[in-house]
Amino acid sequence: MIIVKGTVVTAEKAALADVRIEEGRVVEVGNGLAPRQAGEEVIDAAGLLVMPGAVDVHTHMDLLVGTARASDSFLTGTVAAACGGTTSIIDHMAFGPAGCNLQHQVDAYHVLADGKAVIDYGFHGVVDRVDEGILDEMEHIAAEGITSFKFYMTYDRRLDDESILRLLARARELGVLLCVHCENHATLTWLRALYVAQGRTDARYHAKSRPASCEAEAIFRVLTLAKAAGEAPVYVVHTSSAAGLAAVAAFDANTPPAFAHLETCPQYLLLDESSYGLPDGEGLKFVMSPPVRRAEDREALWAALADGRVEVVGTDHCPFYFSEKKRLGEADFTACPNGAPGVELRLALMHSEGVVRRGMSLSRLVDVCATTPARRFGVYPQKGTIAPGSDADIVLFDPARRVRVTHGLLHERVDYTPYEGMELVGYPVMTISRGDVIVREGAFVGADGRGRYLRRSLPDLR
Ligand code: URP
Ligand code: ZN
Ligand code: ZN
Repeated sequence: MIIVKGTVVTAEKAALADVRIEEGRVVEVGNGLAPRQAGEEVIDAAGLLVMPGAVDVHTHMDLLVGTARASDSFLTGTVAAACGGTTSIIDHMAFGPAGCNLQHQVDAYHVLADGKAVIDYGFHGVVDRVDEGILDEMEHIAAEGITSFKFYMTYDRRLDDESILRLLARARELGVLLCVHCENHATLTWLRALYVAQGRTDARYHAKSRPASCEAEAIFRVLTLAKAAGEAPVYVVHTSSAAGLAAVAAFDANTPPAFAHLETCPQYLLLDESSYGLPDGEGLKFVMSPPVRRAEDREALWAALADGRVEVVGTDHCPFYFSEKKRLGEADFTACPNGAPGVELRLALMHSEGVVRRGMSLSRLVDVCATTPARRFGVYPQKGTIAPGSDADIVLFDPARRVRVTHGLLHERVDYTPYEGMELVGYPVMTISRGDVIVREGAFVGADGRGRYLRRSLPDLR
């Protein structure tokens, strides 16, 4: 296959070029490429952007939380991802039964994903307690290609500071990356109970009970612990606030902590807390942790994305049906499962709002949505770029196409989108995964279960 006349965009540059693909890999990027043999498919990409398939390193397919299960399976969720131009995901595992070892969830996730995912997929391990057994096991799990682990500073299965220190020291020793959900648990639990006792139970109080100071405190604390553990690298997931960014800046006034890696998500860049006040319980659609924040926080995140303090945009895709699950929070927001859909729209939202409206370069778009996530999570240069030797994971993107977002357009298995009604400029028109065209004009045309498990290398943190 050759893709001709498009603008090939990598994290380094955007230039007119052709791409030759053989046996699922890119073999040549150059100008004036012509078919070498009869039957070689020629895809005309004139007027289109030819970008590396996007890499979403923050999804929760089939996530089981309490009694609720995220509604996208690895099949439906990866079909949606592919339709939005994403060709790899790294999924965050749910906690297993109390006391289980790490391998338990690895096995459980292979059952959930193998033979179902339609794009390539990997997993982040999850750690909810630290003892010699877990620290020892991390090495074996890393050898299976799970070279990152997540822990939480809130929720019932959070880690305390001493456990975090031990975990950080071990991760540094092994060269694996720790992802962390940063919120001060005691504060948000206290506030939540206070609001509920006062009868303040609508969705606005979800946000008020999880102020940005909770995120900032936890970020500062995890950096303190990481520094003590020998500058162990930490990857802060879903950074949502100006206060969170300020905590990183305040950590060392002279030298930004190079061991801190920050992710944000489109919801924190595009939405704000006014959504929680929507009538008829609609505010519940935005109940996620951390919550979406003020317009000032959005602006601070865009600035940090522009200057590199935030280096990855993931989605935290974690859908629950509004009609069945989110509405359970109507009498009391604490009964609403946390999380929202987003895996399908990331590239289009970031192009429209970032590139078209805010002047972000196309290369930066590719960098934050594909290249840096691939590097940080050990799949670069197999994924995240278009270069000889890389997997032919490519999205053809029409930068001029105007799309009005509506839930009916999307493939996510859920009954709403937080972005309903948004007018976007630019949309993916074709997705290619390892040389197979799997999406054409918004229709999935690939085979179920064709995705391959990504046995990841150690993270590249430079
Ligand atoms: O509310 C959210 N974000 N749910 C998914 C789990 C998490 O904390 O990332
Ligand atoms: Zn989280
Ligand atoms: Zn998450």
